[in-house]
Amino acid sequence: MAGKIPRDFIDDLLARTDVVDVVDSRVKLKKAGKNYQACCPFHNEKTPSFTVSQDKQFYHCFGCGAHGNAISFVMEFDRLEFVDAIEELARLHGLEVPREQSSRPAISEAKKQQQQDDYELMDKVTRFFQHQLRNHPQSAKAIEYLKSRGLSGDIVKQWEIGFAPGEWDSVLKAFGTDAARVRQLVDLKLVNQNEQGRQYDFFRDRIMFPIRDRRGRVVGFGGRVLDDGGPKYLNSPETRIFHKGSELFGFFQARQQNRQLEKVIIVEGYMDVVALSQFGINIATAALGTATTPEHLQLLTRSTSQIVCCYDGDRAGREAAWRALENALPALKDGVQLTFLFLPDGEDPDTMVRKVGAEAFLAMTEKALPLSRFLFETLLKEHQAGTPEGKLALKTAAQPLIDQVLGDNQRAMLAEELAKHTGEYDRFKLQQDIQTAQVKNTKPANTATQNWPQKTRISPLRMMLRLLLDTPSLATQCEDVVPLVLKNSGMPGLPVLLDVHEYCLSSPNATTAQVIENFRDHPHYNVIAKILMQEHLVADNDARQVYCDSFARLLDWHFDSRIETLLSRSRIQPLSADEKHELKLLMQERQKP
Ligand code: UTP
Ligand code: MN
Repeated sequence: MAGKIPRDFIDDLLARTDVVDVVDSRVKLKKAGKNYQACCPFHNEKTPSFTVSQDKQFYHCFGCGAHGNAISFVMEFDRLEFVDAIEELARLHGLEVPREQSSRPAISEAKKQQQQDDYELMDKVTRFFQHQLRNHPQSAKAIEYLKSRGLSGDIVKQWEIGFAPGEWDSVLKAFGTDAARVRQLVDLKLVNQNEQGRQYDFFRDRIMFPIRDRRGRVVGFGGRVLDDGGPKYLNSPETRIFHKGSELFGFFQARQQNRQLEKVIIVEGYMDVVALSQFGINIATAALGTATTPEHLQLLTRSTSQIVCCYDGDRAGREAAWRALENALPALKDGVQLTFLFLPDGEDPDTMVRKVGAEAFLAMTEKALPLSRFLFETLLKEHQAGTPEGKLALKTAAQPLIDQVLGDNQRAMLAEELAKHTGEYDRFKLQQDIQTAQVKNTKPANTATQNWPQKTRISPLRMMLRLLLDTPSLATQCEDVVPLVLKNSGMPGLPVLLDVHEYCLSSPNATTAQVIENFRDHPHYNVIAKILMQEHLVADNDARQVYCDSFARLLDWHFDSRIETLLSRSRIQPLSADEKHELKLLMQERQKP
């Protein structure tokens, strides 16, 4: 397996490449002031809104938002993968693309072979269980059970549902043909081995649901009892190919059946997924008896932007939903809508869809509670926002949750919501209005940019980020600007600024294209790219001043909010000596001109 392409090589390749040449060889460009223009190759238009900047080595379309550096352009225009785009640009310069010795040794041939064997065996065992459902002498009761659950023959076949016979050694006998095979069955936890070394089938007398991973390989099973004996469900334990926290039952099938997955419903049980699909709702998926993990969310948000988490309306259901919410926050990207559907007591999606039908069930998912509502409703049940103590407690409970949210916009929205509940909304609004006013007062200095359509408001923090992306050397030019001092302020968006600032300190001569390239795999790449699209109307000559002023505003903002926090705390309980000292320093700082 080829190793990674070294970062230095990519930076160097970008330094040698002129994005204007790259674009111009595919789309004829015209000079327009400092920049170049063309009709955008990525959407239909009659007047050019596609602009290429030679200084910044960056292109941007004000019509459709397409943007990026030379590598992105080749990827988009030639429809190439990242590595192939690099190869293509390197070829133009007659360069060989070097590869790093990968620090993690490529997985060995032997290991690959073993994985392949494992998947094959799991597949054969799946067929075996299906075969038993049709042919085993005891299978009548299994078929009867499935019928009693209302499952059609077709749906049983579609989900490859099978039957593990009651004997101790069905799988063992059928597949344990030699010692190596037995070992493999034990490794894959299809066969148990007790302390005396005796081996026996793990799943006995159960309805079997094969679990496919996102690439469609059977990696484990869930097995349900036919009566009330023993645990209701047994799931394959963790194995070298099965990791519960990252698998979702039914997700592969949902992706297979929907070219675009507009929405996904997370349910609790295998039976729920299967029953919904029998009613034509083939967008359901289930975590395997665990809470929804951030990995699950990450997996889902790569394919869909609407996720409905469906739970029992009882206390256990509410608690499970709350755990899911807590786990979801760090994976909650902007643009993803997470909602919570609570079913009437005693119902699950399986019984519900049978009662009300598909259409009514889908209508319920449309009316599910947005995450923000569920979050604040739950917290407001615990904390009385009518008293100062309650407000403080609410804030103490909510803030750490909100801070974890991945998407800047989602986080800001929740912060605004919290401000409403704690009565700090007026201050919060005021701050925003001041910012807006300040932005409006920033006169457009560069006439060439006046007809650019995106004159969006831009907060001081975004402004700093925006200016740094244009001119990385600002980080070294303005020594007084030290965003790190705000590290613990909890200010939304600060982590991105810190990362970009740090990069710019170490590479002050980078072009915009190079900065962007270094953040291509960054978790906040989308935020950075979005900020780049915001026009700031700051002339190059003023960039330094605006950068410093923006930082000063952030500091003021931080000091104000800290002062307010300390003052309101002092009304409830005496401040500690440290806090008093801090408050004094802050007040002095505020009085400086
Ligand atoms: P439920 O008990 O809600 O399952 O557990 P269900 O799908 O509605 O079961 P039926 O309708 O009685 O057949 C939800 C999920 O929790 C896991 C399973 O993944 C199950 O689908 N679970 C439940 C277990 O792993 N073990 C158990 O004993 C019970
Ligand atoms: Mn059920």
